[in-house]
Amino acid sequence: MKVSIIGGGGLVGSSAAFALQCGAIVREIALVDLNQDMAAGQALDLLHGGPSTADQIISSGGYEHIPDTDVVCITAGLRRKPDESRLDLINRNTDLFVAILEDVMKAGLKQEAIVFVVSNPVDVLTYVAADRVGLPHSQVIGLGTQLDTIRFRSLIAERMGVAPTQMSALILGEHGDTMVPIWSGATVGGFPLEKMPGWSPHLANELFTRTKGSGAEVISKKGGAGFAVGIAIRDVIHAIALDQRRLLPISSVQNGCYGIRDVALSVPTVVGRAGVCDRLEIDLWPKEVQGLRRGGTVLRQTVDTVLDRIGKRS
Ligand code: 2OP
Repeated sequence: MKVSIIGGGGLVGSSAAFALQCGAIVREIALVDLNQDMAAGQALDLLHGGPSTADQIISSGGYEHIPDTDVVCITAGLRRKPDESRLDLINRNTDLFVAILEDVMKAGLKQEAIVFVVSNPVDVLTYVAADRVGLPHSQVIGLGTQLDTIRFRSLIAERMGVAPTQMSALILGEHGDTMVPIWSGATVGGFPLEKMPGWSPHLANELFTRTKGSGAEVISKKGGAGFAVGIAIRDVIHAIALDQRRLLPISSVQNGCYGIRDVALSVPTVVGRAGVCDRLEIDLWPKEVQGLRRGGTVLRQTVDTVLDRIGKRS
């Protein structure tokens, strides 16, 4: 499988490339970036590590990579300032993103290609991509709350002193201020989290608040996320590459799950080679469903604002 990362010269894109290299599943990684020297430098640095990691083709260049690409991962975009919300970023990034989509369309996409959006605000840009790239909506996905979910798990595990890989907890909805913690399904090693010694509603609130602010916290400390977002991207791309049918919280344009339509956000999604294989409307607490619907309403308002400015294609 070939993955092309548009924005591959940047922190997020190159971190995703490194995670895919260490994961040793995809066959080819192409780094595409406006800054071609940077993309070439990242690709060369990755290539040097190849003999000790995996037999892959690692390259850089322009949109000539798109026609034979299986997963087009778009990470390009300006980063938030620490006090800026992802939605504030929308105008600055929409124009850049639409231009990228036009270049992708001009280059030509395989019929079975998956367009995988990471650029922020990811849910709004996933909707814009689905509206414009001419593929079935099931083949246009966004990273959504997969990154928030692994952050959430990491922070709970660290505080509770449990193995992070045994920590199961989910964030759904918007990759942004209205994201929803799904406590109803949180477990540690198969046991309900709320039964764990030392767990409390106060601790739950503290850990979710820190999760929601993690993007800004990383930005304030090191300028922007790289390692964890690269791993979250790898999780999704491996589910596609191996047709794993993994249940992942990724963003796609909804058509009725939890009563949400015509907006992209993260619900429990079965991910395989075809992209969105299914969406599971798993029973949640009423307040969790209300939170998802509230997030959908907020996102729909932003989508309408964006479409008023750039127009709707389909
Ligand atoms: C984050 O939360 C990049 O939006 C991503 O760090």
